Amino acid sequence: MSYDVIIIGTGPGGYVCAVKAAQLGLKVAVVEKRATFGGTCLNIGCIPSKALLHASEMFHQAGHGMDALGVEVTEAKLNLPKMMAHKDATVKSNVDGVAFLFKKNKIDSFIGTGKVVSAGKVAVTNDKGETQEIEAKNIVIATGSDVAGIPGVSVDIDEKVIISSTGGIALDKVPANMIVVGGGVIGLELGSVWSRLGAKVTVVEYLDTILGGMDGEVSKQFQRMLAKQGVDFHLGAKVTGVEKTRTGAKVTFEPAKGGDKTVLDADVVLIATGRKPYTANLGLEEAGVALDNRGRVEINGHYKTNVAGIYAIGDVVKGPMLAHKAEDEGVALAEILAGQAGHVNYEVIPSVVYTQPEVASVGKTEEELKAAGIAYKVGKFPFMANGRARAMLATEGFVKILADKETDRVLGGHIVGFGAGEMIHEIAVLMEFGGSSEDLGRTCHAHPTMSEAVKEAALATFFKPIHM
Ligand code: NAI
Repeated sequence: MSYDVIIIGTGPGGYVCAVKAAQLGLKVAVVEKRATFGGTCLNIGCIPSKALLHASEMFHQAGHGMDALGVEVTEAKLNLPKMMAHKDATVKSNVDGVAFLFKKNKIDSFIGTGKVVSAGKVAVTNDKGETQEIEAKNIVIATGSDVAGIPGVSVDIDEKVIISSTGGIALDKVPANMIVVGGGVIGLELGSVWSRLGAKVTVVEYLDTILGGMDGEVSKQFQRMLAKQGVDFHLGAKVTGVEKTRTGAKVTFEPAKGGDKTVLDADVVLIATGRKPYTANLGLEEAGVALDNRGRVEINGHYKTNVAGIYAIGDVVKGPMLAHKAEDEGVALAEILAGQAGHVNYEVIPSVVYTQPEVASVGKTEEELKAAGIAYKVGKFPFMANGRARAMLATEGFVKILADKETDRVLGGHIVGFGAGEMIHEIAVLMEFGGSSEDLGRTCHAHPTMSEAVKEAALATFFKPIHM
């Protein structure tokens, strides 16, 4: 059997590329080594963590947040196995959904480890060790990424005591103490889950700020909110060792700028220091596919590698390791393979941290604009002054909009607050159309909504907000 395209990996990049290519009339096959489709995102990443973030937030609210609304809960009791069952059921419905989409779009699937034999040929080896070869005009590498570990530190991740995000969504009891190595997205999301369920969480982060790369004002204020929730932070602290002890594990760190060591003990240590592209045993070297200096598959503007007929998308190539970035690349590549003009606007890729409150951002940060020497103006509006937020006791956080000083074109938007991850998209759409803060500020927003704070921040950017 010969295909138009074989896609190795069925995460958000691979499965979306497969569906789109099939919709455009191409004959598509996918190769997946997991028993279920959906990759890291659906099986052990975005989706299960969001099930636990929601459930743990409900538990926390029932125990702490509802009294002021006149809802008295005698005692919120945690049933962790049931919470995990909710997570598992969520995963199952999503991975089954992908299987349904493959069937509906007549996409053939091969379960096993895919290896590029040469341009046009992929070998698939199943768990019995049997290998079959399939052929296609085009091959897409969409193998995603894997836990990177701590650079320069040897750590034995057993997923029980020393865990990665994989173990972090599957603990069978709430640890009394948890140390999180890395104050990035995974550390703060999973740290939040276990903190809400009762663990004392301490984050050790190399940089002087959490969520490195986010707008500085956003990460500073957000850190204060997490600290108020009981999370401890050691910033500017480089972890140099993580070892198991008789009762748990110990983490050794020192000031990033140099200085004395500190050793902390914990029941569980979560390693959340980044991910690396997954390229091992894919036959890329043998096929002559070039990698860049960070081990990512090198591509041109059309996702083409240096070998004709071999393409790559998602976490395995450059750019932010985000499911939605991979999805959009999947669509663009399918369009290119079908002879259309596929394109992703990398200037407008939103990013969301699904904590409580959420942190969402799109476009440039203030630091980036300063570094690029772009003259800008800032408009801000706090949820404290938003009627709907007051009604829901969700007044933490603010909206910040950055626009070009001369043209008023919006260059970035940043939101910390309840539902930030939903609200960010109106700024993203505005930016896609090259809109100005005045365009946004003059767009009628329903009252009372949290989104009115976005409109007010836009008003503040080009003139003055009404409610401040
Ligand atoms: P990350 O890159 O976001 O954060 C890792 C942090 O670890 C950095 O702040 C880094 O400075 C720190 N670090 C590295 N070495 C250290 C050391 N020796 N001592 C102390 N700190 C150290 O990586 P993370 O959180 O593991 O996430 C991996 C990828 O998955 C990211 O690309 C992220 O964007 C993505 N992801 C996205 C989510 C979302 O969009 N909601 C959710 C989860 C993951």
